[in-house]
Amino acid sequence: MTPARQLTSPVGQESRFVVPETGERELPWWRNAAIYQIYPRSFADGDGDGVGDLAGLLTRLPYLAELGVDAIWINPWYASPQADAGYDVADYRAIDPLFGSLADAEELIRRAHALGIRVVIDIVPNHTSDQNPWFQAALAAGPGSPERARFWFRPGRGEDGELAPTEWHGFFGGPTWTRITEPDGTPGEWYLHLFAPEQPDFNWDHEDVRAEFESVLRFWFDRGADGFRIDSAALLVKDAALPVQDPDERAFTDLEAVHDVYRSWRRVAESYDGARVLIGEVWLPDAERLARYLRPDEMHTVFNFLYLECAWDAERLRAVIDDTLRFHQEAGAPPTWVLSNHDVDRVVTRYGREDTSFAIYARQHGRPVDLARGSRRARAAALLTQALPGSVYVYQGEELGLWEVEDIPDALRQDPMWERKGRNPADPGRDGCRVPLPWAGSEQPFGFSAPDAHREPWLPQPEAWKEYTVEAQAADAGSMLSLYRSALRLRRVLGDGDIAWLAGTPEGVLAFRRGEGFACVVNLSTESVPLPLAGTVLLASDELRGETDLPPDTAVWLSV
Ligand code: NOJ
Repeated sequence: MTPARQLTSPVGQESRFVVPETGERELPWWRNAAIYQIYPRSFADGDGDGVGDLAGLLTRLPYLAELGVDAIWINPWYASPQADAGYDVADYRAIDPLFGSLADAEELIRRAHALGIRVVIDIVPNHTSDQNPWFQAALAAGPGSPERARFWFRPGRGEDGELAPTEWHGFFGGPTWTRITEPDGTPGEWYLHLFAPEQPDFNWDHEDVRAEFESVLRFWFDRGADGFRIDSAALLVKDAALPVQDPDERAFTDLEAVHDVYRSWRRVAESYDGARVLIGEVWLPDAERLARYLRPDEMHTVFNFLYLECAWDAERLRAVIDDTLRFHQEAGAPPTWVLSNHDVDRVVTRYGREDTSFAIYARQHGRPVDLARGSRRARAAALLTQALPGSVYVYQGEELGLWEVEDIPDALRQDPMWERKGRNPADPGRDGCRVPLPWAGSEQPFGFSAPDAHREPWLPQPEAWKEYTVEAQAADAGSMLSLYRSALRLRRVLGDGDIAWLAGTPEGVLAFRRGEGFACVVNLSTESVPLPLAGTVLLASDELRGETDLPPDTAVWLSV
């Protein structure tokens, strides 16, 4: 039996609760880790050029240790022309000079480990950069060459090859094929890119591609990386017949053969000491299909986008939580809980809109947002999320309660989605969740850049963020940062395991126990409700009026 552990609540009361029996004394770290996502260009700028970098990140590691996270996941840091903020990788074994050097990356891994923080890095296997030497060689080598076979080059349709080989729809809007000019100057073949033209798709049927990525995994595992977040993980394998029409995206999504890739990656991960982890970015609406990536010889975990997309609604959230727990239990893998990342509107904004659900390709920019209500819900959501069993992700700035910046001047927008989707103000892309963090002080760049900076932050920060800096929030016990710090500390003892919903709770209320002595209650209704069970308050997302009532959009952790 797991022994009870003594806990001091941030509200000052001593309490004792029994954590769930997990059957394992030493859980592998990734089963219940809190993983903090670093978007390096917006985290901290050490060299004053207005773009975040590894030197900046190094100086902020103590902040992350104090926040109480177990690991960081760093978005792509590789050499890249930055056509899609680094998701167009020219060299998978080099750091982009914008961010630093390979020596800086090695130093970062060492220093993070010394602070007890694991390091997960991003790997981008579906596509590369058009500047990658293999792609450049393919352009030069001509039709039918072995160099072209590593990608998807095809002649066009129509009399003169003027029509793209398929009519597939691209993720960033616009066509998925680009026609090249052959070395002899004639209009030539087309190549496939599910994202921007600067991101040609690899051909995963090719042995060179498979061998190359296994070698890249080893390169970083050898340097101490604790795992990989796998970009666009379900898209790698294509239907080689290339059907012209593909309305359901079946020709490039979740094909059976993609699982072989992850089986061999798992073997690579397991050939290393320590628990090295594979985390899939798998956007699939079907939980059963998603669970297949979690078979014991494939990935360790996948992001839970079903939870992220769900509206702030008790019934729907409960259904998503139940579904998530069920299919993860069947797969024998721990669930993950994600509220935000660098691709989605910030949670404070989402929850402040009338429609609180999120769809990645149907954003709602420009719709009215009630930031006060959104913040209140985001605080409650933080406690709900962190009370659930499994691992949890925190996207940088979520712990500061930052909102989506919707008024970035058009001329400053950098996300390729902005242009490719026809400059649509309702769906302007992802810049609004990527604005550089405010650290300290009352003026831009709010401590984001070194004091002698020679450039402004790469995206402008809202003036109002002076009240949302780390410095301001650290000094305020009621801030979002203080809430995250307390919650991350308390959740450490909750571990993996299951939840038990409380019976008979009023409509609009989510209430569950973890083990014998811990309960989480969240009121998503519009009225105050009596707490459905007695206990000592460990942490509340907002002030409680009275001892026994839970106001709307508030969550509480109880020792019961
Ligand atoms: C998913 C990444 O999270 C996103 O930022 C990127 O644009 C696409 N994959 C393409 O790599």
